[in-house]
Amino acid sequence: MGNAFYIKTFGCQMNIRDSEIIAQSLYEHGYIESDRSDNADLIIINTCSIREKAEQKFFSLLGSLKKQKERNPQLLICVAGCVAQQLGPRVIERMGHVDLVIGTQYIYDLPQLIKQCKSENSLTELRDDYQIPRYIPSSSLPKKAAEPSSISESSRFSRFVTIMQGCNNFCSYCVVPYTRGREVSRNIKDIIDEVKVVVDSGVKEIVLLGQNVNSYGMTNRVSDEIENYRFSDLLKEVSSIPGIERLRFTTSNPKDLSDDLIHCFGKLDNLCAHFHLPVQSGSDKILRAMNRKYTIADYLARVEKLREVSPNIAISTDIIVGFPGESDADFVQTMQLLETVRFNSSFSFKYSDRPGTVAHDIGSKVSESLKTDRLQQFQKRQDEITLEENQKLVGITLPVMVEAVAGNDISGRTEMNHIVHCGAGSDLDQLIPGEVIDVRITYAGPHSLKGETY
Ligand code: 5AD
Ligand code: SF4
Repeated sequence: MGNAFYIKTFGCQMNIRDSEIIAQSLYEHGYIESDRSDNADLIIINTCSIREKAEQKFFSLLGSLKKQKERNPQLLICVAGCVAQQLGPRVIERMGHVDLVIGTQYIYDLPQLIKQCKSENSLTELRDDYQIPRYIPSSSLPKKAAEPSSISESSRFSRFVTIMQGCNNFCSYCVVPYTRGREVSRNIKDIIDEVKVVVDSGVKEIVLLGQNVNSYGMTNRVSDEIENYRFSDLLKEVSSIPGIERLRFTTSNPKDLSDDLIHCFGKLDNLCAHFHLPVQSGSDKILRAMNRKYTIADYLARVEKLREVSPNIAISTDIIVGFPGESDADFVQTMQLLETVRFNSSFSFKYSDRPGTVAHDIGSKVSESLKTDRLQQFQKRQDEITLEENQKLVGITLPVMVEAVAGNDISGRTEMNHIVHCGAGSDLDQLIPGEVIDVRITYAGPHSLKGETY
């Protein structure tokens, strides 16, 4: 068998980071990455089960690989990620051409499991007991920065660093606590070492990752080192590592957002003025049913404080419409919240019933057509607000981190996370991704800005 692997990643940043870890451990075992599935000897699909649609996309990709497996029985197909964790052996029962199914906590063991699988035909490796956290094995983490790979286009200048895994919140609609297990915070030293390795390799932007970064250090800890150490402490420590131009983090649950973290925005120069703060709904009744553990008043107080400390901060959010029991009046409250906060942008979704979650068993489901109407209504108004907020930037000069240079065109990102396109002047043709340049904004659209350099 050859040694070319192809990896397809669905879902969130955590999955992207996990795929990078998988890729790196495969490089270290002599594999090379292919950007096409049809000439690969090993195909890994890193799956997402947050909504039904993501799961369907995975099954249709998997179906399309059946023929390739028939042509080449030596091909190994591995299913990883959240669907793997949830369905386990049922993936192989449904799709007999799958060789290996690994749960979310087994990515570090992949090269060994592949070896084992070759001698055992098919293999499923999962953990069933979520009450016992499995610590990220620091010894098995890469010692040097991975080469930029096709997994994440931005990996040359921006990298994710996982600070914690899992989630303890059990929001009633969410599969994550079941697919990723209990919350575990990594050791400070492991995180700092990983950031340093990555920054030494020339990366300019670090994004700290966790399902709920605000509770870093509060739950299961790898060691006592982080007993009284909070996310804001970690952020300050990472921020001071030389060479980091931009620091971001995601995701935060509003219920754990501390004043200390909010004040970081006034203090840390390289912390980007962008906060992704998922609210999910504008109705206290629905928030209670979602088990979110905050009220709209709490949320608004946090937003106000953030804007006091950092007046230009961009606030984005996640919204679910059509949660079971969501009445017209509840949805109106979500629309009102949008008017009150004026989110710079948002990700909004129709509620998707996930097996195994508490909301799955709530009776009063909202019809598909009503969910579609509400989603369209929300997104239409959000687009208008995004455009209005973007238009306020016309005429202003903003620092933009270059992400891509194609001929005379540059695209990049503001601190607040707007995508910016501009022409490259003659002295800018040497630009490389990761450099920060001043751009005067000349035009604002709903999804991006245009500008000029001096
Ligand atoms: N249905 C719809 N959206 C969901 N999300 C999580 N679970 C579901 C679900 N069952 C959304 C939430 C979360 C984002 C990552 O995905 O808004 O913040
Ligand atoms: Fe899911 Fe809630 Fe945990 Fe986010 S905080 S991963 S929505 S359970």
